[in-house]
Amino acid sequence: MNHFLDIHKTDPSVLRQIIDQAAVTKQARAGQPKAALDAELPLKDRMVALIFEKPSTRTRVSFDVGVRQMGGQTMVLSGRDMQLGHGETIADTARVLSRYVDMIMIRTFDETVLTEMAEYADVPVINGLTDRTHPCQIMADILTYEEHRGSIKGKKVVWAGDGNNVCASFLHAAGQFGFDLTFTGPAQLDPEDEFIGLARKAGSTIAIERDAKKAVEGADLIVADTWVSMHDSQSSKERRHNMLRGYQVNEELMSHAKPDALFMHCLPAHREEEVTSAVMDGPQSVIFDEAENRLHAQKAVMRWCIGA
Ligand code: CP
Ligand code: NVA
Repeated sequence: MNHFLDIHKTDPSVLRQIIDQAAVTKQARAGQPKAALDAELPLKDRMVALIFEKPSTRTRVSFDVGVRQMGGQTMVLSGRDMQLGHGETIADTARVLSRYVDMIMIRTFDETVLTEMAEYADVPVINGLTDRTHPCQIMADILTYEEHRGSIKGKKVVWAGDGNNVCASFLHAAGQFGFDLTFTGPAQLDPEDEFIGLARKAGSTIAIERDAKKAVEGADLIVADTWVSMHDSQSSKERRHNMLRGYQVNEELMSHAKPDALFMHCLPAHREEEVTSAVMDGPQSVIFDEAENRLHAQKAVMRWCIGA
């Protein structure tokens, strides 16, 4: 049994196996109805709990559909409605859930909720986003990049905007998959030093460039995310927008990257804020492939978690 807690906590050979497996199973079911069962049913007779302490469209639906395609069943739980939200410890919740279900996916705020769940659960635990990281998203992003452009190794990725949870998992992936990453955004919103250090230690070139146009020179991939994450206070919105306005991804900025650079965004996006509609709906954008690939990447993650 394996937990999928973060990209930097998962061996690079396992990450590669997950991406390759995702590509194969995606291909194998191409053109089939969405509810058709896969040829192999690794989750047959298995129950998966999907716990959400924050809203979600993609994570919720892609995990639910993925489990069903692999022959399993799901139970979608809102943290608010569980005793979790009323003082029962995470450790006790983990022990109890382990008696009922075969796997737990959790989206939460503080990452200690995730790590404590994993420590005390007897079944695999998957990180469906915390305030600090979002590994499943970046697995889908690597799959997407490689479908369009081949191996991501040695490529230049530029993260524009807030050095947030999604950016953190991109930094982890830089180290594990061997690509370089330039962060462009205001100093107040730099990614965590710890994560920059990990990627550098793994041999990736990680740069910080305040000038967005300079940052994207030679970029193979430009990535943006919302300027106000679910864990950020709404009262910080105006201040954050003022700091981040110069980092909007628009056609002008894209024109400074390589002509075949791709654009990614984990979604949900705020059109005309962190990215313009012209870029989102333009020829370089692969945002809906990313969303689809959540399904395929997570199915491969779940298989690895149960050793199937
Ligand atoms: N990208 C992503 O995780 O989307 P949701 O918040 O809709 O799950
Ligand atoms: N950074 C965003 C990602 C949403 C999928 C958030 O945490 O709200």
